Amino acid sequence: MSFQVTIKPSNHQYSAPEHETILESALREGFALPYGCRNGACGSCKGKILQGQVDYGKYQDNALSETEKHAGMALFCTAKPLTDVVIECREVGAARDIPVKTMPCRVQKMEKVAHDVMILHLKLPANERLQFLAGQYIDILLKDGKRRSFSLANAPHDDEFLQLHVRHMPGGVFTGQVFNSMQEKAILRFEGPHGSFFLREDSKKPILFVAGGTGFAPIKGMLEHAFQAHCKREMVLYWGARSLRDLYMPHLAGQWQQEHPNFTFIPVLSEPLAEDNWPGRTGLVHQAVADDFADLSGYQVYACGAPQMVEAGKQAFVARGLPEDEFFADAFTFAAGV
Ligand SMILES: Cc1cc2nc3c(=O)[nH]c(=O)nc-3n(C[C@H](O)[C@H](O)[C@H](O)COP(=O)(O)OP(=O)(O)OC[C@H]3O[C@@H](n4cnc5c(N)ncnc54)[C@H](O)[C@@H]3O)c2cc1C
Ligand code: FES
Repeated sequence: MSFQVTIKPSNHQYSAPEHETILESALREGFALPYGCRNGACGSCKGKILQGQVDYGKYQDNALSETEKHAGMALFCTAKPLTDVVIECREVGAARDIPVKTMPCRVQKMEKVAHDVMILHLKLPANERLQFLAGQYIDILLKDGKRRSFSLANAPHDDEFLQLHVRHMPGGVFTGQVFNSMQEKAILRFEGPHGSFFLREDSKKPILFVAGGTGFAPIKGMLEHAFQAHCKREMVLYWGARSLRDLYMPHLAGQWQQEHPNFTFIPVLSEPLAEDNWPGRTGLVHQAVADDFADLSGYQVYACGAPQMVEAGKQAFVARGLPEDEFFADAFTFAAGV
């Protein structure tokens, strides 16, 4: 059985199965209610029940006092609807609404998906979750106080593990460690979320995603979020890599294309190998976009990858009419003072 949840003041509405908490179903539907632990311990998800009834679930008394409960408050991470409900809660609309945390995490799984790309699945301590917007990044804190930035490749609704796509930089301190000595179960510390590279969901414009190499990571998070939120905007992903072996998750993007009629995947190889027998697009990824779109005035572009790609892309797209404030990017720069 499902109940209707209405969020005030936004008036967003969705259908919530009775066995799910209000927070779970909201995140699954793409509505960013605030939260911390997702476990009834921190109080970050507290809001008001304006109409209807809920099962409050199990929570800690310090997260929701009896007085608060009598005043109509509930923890949305534990409360499940028993009737249609109207709740009052300020949705997280922008990155500045999300608290930045410093946390330890355990490397749960290491997956080598290409000769120089490792996917790290990070597990947070019990009772802890990281709130973030799809596309944001975290800083891994190294022992000597230095930090290295990596984009979150998972979407917020799929947050049991944080996913990073790490490219091995020759001579790099942290990525060298990942490829040469790190073992599963290693403990890391990070700070986040950071950044303003996230999907602007208040727009109806078609979207071009432009990824270079592991620049796919945050775009994967954004796309998985968009699909989850039933986004119907036209979306095209151009993913550039050197050769076929560098396109480290091609099946996933191909699968999205089959499942979502509003999504198209265009892989672009800059230096295909003879053995690739590559029948597809070649050249630089931003150039492929520029070749396909003479007029970008009605689009939004999200670009991520090497700084040169991001810069060249911005120039080429703005020259084709893209408004500068519709260009969003994360450039994979190196940390200062390595
Ligand atoms: C917001 C953001 C998000 C990012 N997300 C990702 C991601 O999801 N995946 C990913 O793979 N990477 C990502 N990066 C890039 C990543 O942070 C760097 O590649 C990483 O810091 C390398 O760490 P390292 O310790 O291995 O290398 P470092 O020790 O920093 O050195 C890397 C290599 O580059 C050289 N080098 C250092 N500084 C410079 C410089 N200024 N110019 C030229 N060469 C230099 C070094 O000598 C070495 O060979 C992101 C960067 C930013 C800013
Ligand atoms: S998110 Fe911590 S109490 Fe609900």
